[in-house]
Amino acid sequence: MLTMKISEKTREEVKRILKELNEEGPYEMNKKFIQHGRQTVHNHCVSVAVMCCTLAEKFHLPVKRNDLIRGALLHDFFLYDWHEPVLAHKIHGYTHPKKAMKNAEQFYGINKREKRMIRHHMFPLTPHPPTNLEAWVLCISDKICAIQEMKKAKRTGVYEAIKAAKAGAKEKARNAAREARAIARERRRERKAS
Ligand SMILES: [Fe+2]
Ligand SMILES: [Fe+2]
Repeated sequence: MLTMKISEKTREEVKRILKELNEEGPYEMNKKFIQHGRQTVHNHCVSVAVMCCTLAEKFHLPVKRNDLIRGALLHDFFLYDWHEPVLAHKIHGYTHPKKAMKNAEQFYGINKREKRMIRHHMFPLTPHPPTNLEAWVLCISDKICAIQEMKKAKRTGVYEAIKAAKAGAKEKARNAAREARAIARERRRERKAS
């Protein structure tokens, strides 16, 4: 796992911008949705923002830090549960950058750089590569964090637990349907007998 020391400057800046986003719009909604394993979209975005700053500091990259953090915090601001079994979510990986960008535009006054960061963060899954340094830093940081989160979920048995819970829910639904059919049959028998 890639672990790097988080600077006090990064901690303070991410905290400040997070506070601004919470005051300006419904950023807290990110806490309602799961990203990888049991990790919320909110926590994922904070991890990605911290990773962006840490990489930029480590490699002395001349980034616009404020834009870098805002773009990173808003990069997955798509505001829905992509785990729901609906057809549209099957292509979530390809479509969510545009949705997140639209939401960020609607609720926050994002600039051109932030817009491009959000729009291209899924490259190479989406065909257009990042067009500025901050977008490249985000694109890489997002992948590092996603891999770490998925590895953790696998290691701690989260995916098995989710699978078991889903199987349990399906079994419950099957039993309820069986019970409903039995009641209907019984009613029909009663009607015929009377
Ligand atoms: Fe994303
Ligand atoms: Fe992400």
